[in-house]
Amino acid sequence: MIYLDNAATSYPKPEVVYQAVDCFMRHIGASPGRSGHRLAIEAGRLVYETREMLAELFGVENPLQIIFTLNATEALNLVINGVLSTGDHVITSSMEHNAVMRPLQAVKERGIELTIVKCSPEGVLFPQEVARAVKPNTRLIILNHASNVTGIIQSIAKISEITRDHKVLLAVDAAQTAGCCPINVKALGVDFLAFSGHKGLYGPPGTGGLYIREGCEAKLKPLVYGGTGSYSEFTRQPDFLPDKYESGTPNTAGLAGLKAGVCFVLDRGVAQIYKHEDALGEILRAGLWNIKGVKVYGSSRLTPQPQLPVVSFNIAGFTPSEVAVQLEEKYQIMCRPGLHCAPLAHQTIGTFPQGTVRLSPALFNTLDEIKTVVKAIEEIAYD
Ligand code: ALA
Repeated sequence: MIYLDNAATSYPKPEVVYQAVDCFMRHIGASPGRSGHRLAIEAGRLVYETREMLAELFGVENPLQIIFTLNATEALNLVINGVLSTGDHVITSSMEHNAVMRPLQAVKERGIELTIVKCSPEGVLFPQEVARAVKPNTRLIILNHASNVTGIIQSIAKISEITRDHKVLLAVDAAQTAGCCPINVKALGVDFLAFSGHKGLYGPPGTGGLYIREGCEAKLKPLVYGGTGSYSEFTRQPDFLPDKYESGTPNTAGLAGLKAGVCFVLDRGVAQIYKHEDALGEILRAGLWNIKGVKVYGSSRLTPQPQLPVVSFNIAGFTPSEVAVQLEEKYQIMCRPGLHCAPLAHQTIGTFPQGTVRLSPALFNTLDEIKTVVKAIEEIAYD
């Protein structure tokens, strides 16, 4: 089996991740920040250490500025619902996932003004187009760091110059990039960074989070209210981090696995991971470019762009699902066909409504696997 669906969720996980989840479930088990007994303290320490490791990974000084959510989608919903009020204007791009588009559509129906900046047919967002869309009531710009359809990495640092000049908040969806390419929140200039725990950070599903720049918590209402284990005498939600945004018993088993995943990523080094994955992506794209009848989306030989190894393509005469079925049934290759929860991104690159076949290798894939995949696609195309 060759698993090439890491943009959906990474698989397999490093052995240490399985062990950490198992160890938490068997030997700790308690709810962090509650009860005060030995096991609860141990669980609390584990959650804090996970925050510390993520802070190291993203260049965050105070680990408490990182809060945990169920996934990147929840973190993005928190920002969109927590920052915007009636009469505000929000800007996004046409390459966004529905994790951004759907909550934006919902707030639009409640009186928020929305501008969707169109990207190029390759899926590239031009910062000057974003600057042109800014208005006096613009409150938030929310964009992906890299597309889950094309893998194109957007110029976030350039866009943060615009948000700084106009005193607009900048939120970035790093679901695809966290753990896959170096991220420093200061260098990127972001106010919020939503990340997924189960993709490039190799944690279990049901893990994710949000970095909140110091001071921005004052502008961000919680999405969920409830028990935090702190100040239980008050019915009002605590206003300090992380408790303000972390109500209810967390997914501590998942966070134990996430801690092991982030530790694994830090040990390997994100730059090394990027180098390996980038090489696989380059070879995969180059192989597909040479097959007659195959069209690859995103950057081309003529217009190279910084890009993750998220490779979308189609074969003339086949639907994406037909290709995916053949890849699995004949070659045991796992991929994701269709619209990838990003209909506007597919409209932008001209593949709506059928979508594309998406191959997304990661750290555990090898060069030999990529060569096998290219050969398989060649056989399907020339059959
Ligand atoms: N957003 C994930 C994907 O692109 C689930 O597959």
